[in-house]
Amino acid sequence: MTELVYRAPGKVNLGLRCSSRRPDGYHNLVTVFMAVELADTLTCTTLPGRIEVDISGEGAGQIPTDGSDLTGRAAALLRTRFGDPSMGARLVVDKAIPVAGGMAGGSADAAAALRACNELWGLGVGAPDLMSLAAELGADVPFALLGGVALGVRRGDVLTPLPCPGTYHWVFALARRGLSTQDVFARHDELSADGQDARLDELIDVLTSGDASLVGAHLVNDLTPAAVSLRPEIGETLAFGSALPGVVGAVLSGSGPTCAFLCLTEKAADDVAARLPELPQVLGTRVADGPVSVD
Ligand code: C5P
Repeated sequence: MTELVYRAPGKVNLGLRCSSRRPDGYHNLVTVFMAVELADTLTCTTLPGRIEVDISGEGAGQIPTDGSDLTGRAAALLRTRFGDPSMGARLVVDKAIPVAGGMAGGSADAAAALRACNELWGLGVGAPDLMSLAAELGADVPFALLGGVALGVRRGDVLTPLPCPGTYHWVFALARRGLSTQDVFARHDELSADGQDARLDELIDVLTSGDASLVGAHLVNDLTPAAVSLRPEIGETLAFGSALPGVVGAVLSGSGPTCAFLCLTEKAADDVAARLPELPQVLGTRVADGPVSVD
């Protein structure tokens, strides 16, 4: 029996500027994504006529297993559009990316499911079609197909790959409780004036330097006040981590609650990862390099 194994890397937004709310309820964004080593693993085998999802690992209990999760929906969407009902798959996800953490773990699994089922079923669906299926599934799914570093505009799903030489050492502080992306955007609407000019030109410029200190100084996330207003301890985590030796930048990852700390060296990252759990709200830490490509 064919068994395919795919890595599904999580992401951090180095910059996330949020402007207007759109008629479809989404927000226009300008964001820079970086895929990082912290990855779920998807194992995919043939199962005639049925799509079955089995999720294990960190936070797995929070994800439905009745096919309504993003992984199952991705496989079903691909089958509906390009396959036939005889096709099926058993999708086993081993989670390492925090669930509801702002690192697009669900989107990563969905993108991996699209790629895995495309291969398993021998569909030969090309990258542009996979990208439009990904955009239907969620705003972060297209980047999860692409990997590396990219600029995302509109919902964050219209992507341009960005040059980004070098390796960046990240520490992720995991929170005890997840945050709903929808709730964070809704709070953002309550707190912010609409229609700001959202640009990330300087961040994109400094990315070409490969200089972590420069990049660290340009990390920005417009959703931070909203996330902090829902979970004040996020502000404390960012402040505590920013002050640790070797940290050159700190940013909320996506809509949070995971906080990301950019470190100068691998050794500094290990030390920062050991210190952050001194805060009661930090469940644990993960050290991960980026960018990574999607294999
Ligand atoms: O696309 P996804 O299902 O991941 O988005 C979750 C929620 O996040 C959306 O329903 C929306 O409330 C919010 N969102 C947004 N603008 C974006 C991306 C997400 O308002 N660009």
